[in-house]
Amino acid sequence: MAELEGLEFGKSDFVLLDEVTMEQFMENLKLRFEKGRIYTYIGEVVVSVNPYRQMDIYGKDTVDAYRGRELYENPPHLYAVSDAAYKAMKRRAKDTCIVISGESGAGKTEASKYIMQYIAAITNPGQRAEVESVKNVLLKSNCVLEAFGNAKTNRNDNSSRFGKYMDINFNFNGEPTGGHINNYLLEKVRGWVGGQDDGGALNLLRGGSDEMLESFHLQNDPAVYIYTREGAATVTSNNDRSSHKAVMSALGVIGFSNEEINSIYQILASILLLGNVQFETDGESVQILGLEAIDHIAELTATEADSVIKSLLFRTVATGGGEVIEKGHTEQDACFGRDAFAKALYERLFCWIVNRINSVIEVKDYNPVLHGKNTVIGVLDIYGFEIFENNSFEQFCINYCNEKLQQLFIELILRQEQGEYQREGITWQHIDYFNNQIIVDLVEQPHKGIISILDEACLTVGKVTDTVCLESMDTKLAQHPHYTSRKLSPTDKTMDFQKHFRIRHYAGDVTYSVEGFLDKNKDLLFQDFKRLMYNSADPVLKEMWPDGQLSITEVTKRPLTAATLFKNSIVALVDKLGCKEPYYVRCIKPNEMKSPVLFDDARCQHQVAYLGLMENVMVRRAGFAYRQHYARVLQRYKMTCEYTWPNHLMASDREAVEAIVTQHGFQDDVAYGHTKLFVRTPRSLYTLEQERAALIPILVLFLQKVWRGALARMRCRRMRAIYAIMGCYKRYKVKAHFWEVESRFANVRTMADYGKSVEWPNPPAALSKFHKNTVMLHRRWWARQIVKNIPPSDMLEVRAKVAALTALSGERKDWGVSRAWERDYLANARDCPQTSSSFIRVSKDLRNKDMYSQVLFSGFCRKVNRFNKSTDRGLLITDKCVYKLEPNKQYKVLKRLPLDIFTGLSVTSEVDQMVALHTSSQDDVLLCLQRGELCTNQDRVGELVGALVDHFTRKVHFPVKVCRSAVQVHMRGKVKNVTVETRPGQTNADFKKSRDGFILLVPAN
Ligand SMILES: Nc1ncnc2c1ncn2[C@@H]1O[C@H](COP(=O)(O)OP(=O)(O)OP(=O)(O)O)[C@@H](O)[C@H]1O
Ligand SMILES: [Mg+2]
Repeated sequence: MAELEGLEFGKSDFVLLDEVTMEQFMENLKLRFEKGRIYTYIGEVVVSVNPYRQMDIYGKDTVDAYRGRELYENPPHLYAVSDAAYKAMKRRAKDTCIVISGESGAGKTEASKYIMQYIAAITNPGQRAEVESVKNVLLKSNCVLEAFGNAKTNRNDNSSRFGKYMDINFNFNGEPTGGHINNYLLEKVRGWVGGQDDGGALNLLRGGSDEMLESFHLQNDPAVYIYTREGAATVTSNNDRSSHKAVMSALGVIGFSNEEINSIYQILASILLLGNVQFETDGESVQILGLEAIDHIAELTATEADSVIKSLLFRTVATGGGEVIEKGHTEQDACFGRDAFAKALYERLFCWIVNRINSVIEVKDYNPVLHGKNTVIGVLDIYGFEIFENNSFEQFCINYCNEKLQQLFIELILRQEQGEYQREGITWQHIDYFNNQIIVDLVEQPHKGIISILDEACLTVGKVTDTVCLESMDTKLAQHPHYTSRKLSPTDKTMDFQKHFRIRHYAGDVTYSVEGFLDKNKDLLFQDFKRLMYNSADPVLKEMWPDGQLSITEVTKRPLTAATLFKNSIVALVDKLGCKEPYYVRCIKPNEMKSPVLFDDARCQHQVAYLGLMENVMVRRAGFAYRQHYARVLQRYKMTCEYTWPNHLMASDREAVEAIVTQHGFQDDVAYGHTKLFVRTPRSLYTLEQERAALIPILVLFLQKVWRGALARMRCRRMRAIYAIMGCYKRYKVKAHFWEVESRFANVRTMADYGKSVEWPNPPAALSKFHKNTVMLHRRWWARQIVKNIPPSDMLEVRAKVAALTALSGERKDWGVSRAWERDYLANARDCPQTSSSFIRVSKDLRNKDMYSQVLFSGFCRKVNRFNKSTDRGLLITDKCVYKLEPNKQYKVLKRLPLDIFTGLSVTSEVDQMVALHTSSQDDVLLCLQRGELCTNQDRVGELVGALVDHFTRKVHFPVKVCRSAVQVHMRGKVKNVTVETRPGQTNADFKKSRDGFILLVPAN
């Protein structure tokens, strides 16, 4: 029920006809043919009408359009059935076969080629070399078989003179692994000699090179040879040479050796030469005309010329007593023998070629355990029904073959179908189809059947003629409803007495002429020819004639007759097809003129009738396109229905399937069997398939979601576990650190250094801050232990040193930390032995007067004023004031500055003793401390800084600047830069004016 075609092209499936009548059927067939639609379905059967013109419907695009699609998705095409057969084989591991039938010239062989090409095109997408080579040989074998097996007849320019059944084997992966060809050669019964030509020979004559022909003693003119004379009448095309080349190359590809190819052509040449051998008789003995040809035949067949002559003119007969005598032929016998010999040569050559190809393509080393099930697609291209004016033995065999195939069709399609409906309890309108078993029996039944009667007649010793045989049939078959003859129905003038008999075939009545039946059935070939060939020196030829080795005296079983051989091969074929899932291509030949436009109604109707297409449509219409077990239907489509997804709660699968069907509104299109659902039209199925296809991505997403969720949860649980473990471990590390610290510092109280030398353990990262704090804590505690032991009298000094340490923050080179800080150096008798007493006095007065409570610092210094005048002075700093004293006048107070006006001080980073005391009024005091007796060479700046800073920090901030270069001071608001220079020869430090301030010159030491 193909889509995509408008109704103007007619109905693409005959099932869709409004009424199943022959008129409507023919009308549709004709319309489609005229519109260039050569394919039409009957369900899954393809009806094909030979277009007699090249159609643009077999290209790669078309292959792609049909690949993997369902039958009803595209317009009818051979590719669609090929794909269906391939899919059934691949998906369900079913062996399938495609039966192509139709009369000569209806397009069977073409169809089989397209099918093969399609299968080759869709398999092996990976381009695996070994598969490609199998495909290549399979395709090439066609070319060879056609070259040797086809011939031009008056009904088909390229008529297959053999029926062909080809199995293609596939591995589990759906790739071709090999094949097998069965041929049903009818040539012998088709009357090969006289009037027909041999495709292989013609191909050789027209296509072979001159040297090649010469070596075979042939001329490049088919008209010269009796066997090719008729074929020669056709126009020579340029294709012949290239087709000869193609055949040669195909032979090479398949694997024929050069010797073999040569032998093949030698045999063909001998056949042609043999056809031209003439005899003459002088009334007594028979002679051969023109012995040159005999020499050539002998050379080509690698035999002795004498033996050839003898075989052509005599036959050896064994007498009862084991004696052997030679009996001369009559001229008629000789001609008969010659033609029989030529036919036999041709037949054995062809069979040998087929066997040779089979040996190449046969599947080797296939192990089902290893390679999976080996499946098969069979393609059968076999002659259809033949009904001529004059029908002979050949038509009898062909028509019998078609009766057998019809049986198979009935068996597989009609009976199976009806049987299944019965089994499943489906109400089924019984179609009355004609079961042709009775005709098959008429032909093949043992003892009573026509073949048996023929064989019997052939076996009878003595002169049994065709007429005697007809009489015997008339007697034995008189009662048979499908058999008649003039004798049995004397009023029927269409038959002659003693000549005709008529079989009522399922396809129609056929009147056969009995003339020649016996000879054709005996298919006599004189033993002498067999021996002649067996004794050939050409091994290929010898191989074809194994039966020639029997000695003449050996009593052999009579060879089976042609009809029996044919029957046996057809029975075997039907058995082979019977176990496969069949697909049918029914070919129709639109006219006798090979015209692409002519549609001969009568001819076509005749073919439609005997192909049984009408019955086919009726069964199909009554039937169901699709059936499947409930469980499988459910499995496939359960996602399309809310009641069945993901699992149903109904009593049975059947009910669940019903729910699906009801949900989609197909109730009227289905029937419920006992175990299976039957769907009438593919459209319903298509709808289900589409819905399923649309849902699959959603389901996939759903499954992905669930699975991703599960994965994430798993990961999360793992992470949590990891964190729990990490937490425990961290806590353990913290505790371990505590324990360690505890154990290391347990005895610090009793240690001499209060644990200063104890090494801290490395803390875990989490405790780094804690670690810093504990270290600090311990330091403080440790400092406290140290400070606790300092006597109060030393406290001042310690405090000053701490203050200096902080204020100078390590930037000054020497700050006298290591010596004892005495503070009041001017009052110190050791430092100023001469003047201390007078200073003490002045100091006392000042204490009383200014009420200071503490001397912060006193000592000598050199100071400089804003007039660049530098003088020695005594410096006294108390907690109230800073005094400048005149040391030479008993420390007379020269200047008294309240301590509050000082805002900070600057010193250098070097070892000089310069100090700049900054004041809030920007009138700084710049001086250089002088060292007394006590510490002649030691720093006093540090002590001054410490004392002042310690004093000030209790009240205000007192900044100390340690300058690396010039020290900046203000004098009456004016900025002055003071640098320090070492000057050799300088005995005491002294200020000197510089460009922008002062230079302190210090002695070098
Ligand atoms: N699909 C097609 N497209 C074009 N031409 C075709 C097609 N089918 C058949 N023909 C033409 O019809 C001719 C006969 O077809 P084919 O040889 O397949 O007939 P057949 O049924 O095999 O006959 P026979 O029984 O004599 O072998 C072909 O040579 C070709 O010219
Ligand atoms: Mg053919």
